[in-house]
Amino acid sequence: MTALFRLLHDADLSARNTFRVPARAPWLLEVNDPGSLAEALDLEQVRGLPLLMLGGGSNLLFAGDAPGVVVALRACGMAIIGDRGDRAIVRAEAGADWHGLVMWSLDQGLCGLENLALIPGSVGAAPIQNIGAYGVEIGERIVAVEAWDRDAARMLRLDRAGCAFGYRDSAFKRQPERWIVTAVELELPRGAAPRLDYAGIGEELAAMGVATPAARDVAEAVIRIRRRKLPDPAVVGNAGSFFKNPIVPAAQAQALQDANPRLPAFPGDGDGTRKLSAAWLIDACGWKGTREGDAGVSAAHALVLVNHGDASGLHLLELARRIAGSVRERFGVALEPEPRIVGAGW
Ligand code: EPU
Repeated sequence: MTALFRLLHDADLSARNTFRVPARAPWLLEVNDPGSLAEALDLEQVRGLPLLMLGGGSNLLFAGDAPGVVVALRACGMAIIGDRGDRAIVRAEAGADWHGLVMWSLDQGLCGLENLALIPGSVGAAPIQNIGAYGVEIGERIVAVEAWDRDAARMLRLDRAGCAFGYRDSAFKRQPERWIVTAVELELPRGAAPRLDYAGIGEELAAMGVATPAARDVAEAVIRIRRRKLPDPAVVGNAGSFFKNPIVPAAQAQALQDANPRLPAFPGDGDGTRKLSAAWLIDACGWKGTREGDAGVSAAHALVLVNHGDASGLHLLELARRIAGSVRERFGVALEPEPRIVGAGW
């Protein structure tokens, strides 16, 4: 029988973050059964310590060591738990691999996650930053998130409204010390028109020779685009987009576009705002493909910082700050990091 949880002292985290930078934690708590969280967090060694949730390690940068206890949930079950005729309710546990869930849902004849194929990371991390790609955000598919509430010391089930999703944002991201996401529940249609509006998907499907795409074809198209545009963390250390696309007042976006007609802009989070392409702004400042020692900016995508080998997290953070500084100076736009930065402020 597997133990309910395991506590390790002075743990090495370098293989547990996709930037592959060196970092350690005083304690690493591996939890196999989320039902044992209360007991595990009450262990004498870890009680009251700052807590860091670690999923696939694909959306954080260790600029220093983790301060207290790092918690990794390992339960990774997925199942259909409800049937609403043309839709099914799927429940997946936090430790499951996100891309594994996408492919499993397609195998069950379910759609809705195909645009989110090949995003690195775990299921539990997905709602925290409301992962999104190619015109779809996970928040649109979520019915509920199950999470351990450290403040109340109990398990809660938050419905979609309770999760307060925004662009790369959620209630969980705003209070990272409070929540431990243990499972997500998704509502997925059995058949639905695929979402093809994002630039590049239609072209990719045409290149694949697919005229009437099914969900699986869209997943395949997304996988091909991602493989081409984004560096594979298994080959070169990275955490996907390092910056969020900045949301600015519409008037500012218009003025910037008047001066820079090729700058892409999209609808913002609310009325009177526009979302600008951070990649374009960084590219225009000449950073794409630059390398300083082992820290650099991907030559394939200007939003992605890369560790070519032995870069430290602090080195990558300093590079990121200089990139943001040059964008602020040239365009008057503030960039914010997308991954969580551990051990330093922004
Ligand atoms: N662009 C450049 N230079 C580049 C790359 C892109 O100028 O090096 C411009 C192009 O004009 C392009 C536009 O930026 O049309 C948008 O690029 P892309 O389609 O790659 O999307 P993105 O806005 O840069 C976002 C997400 C990605 C997601 C893609 C596709 C954020 C912060 N990033 O990137 O998510 O895969 O859309 O939907 O919202 C991630 O979050 O880690 C991530 C990779």
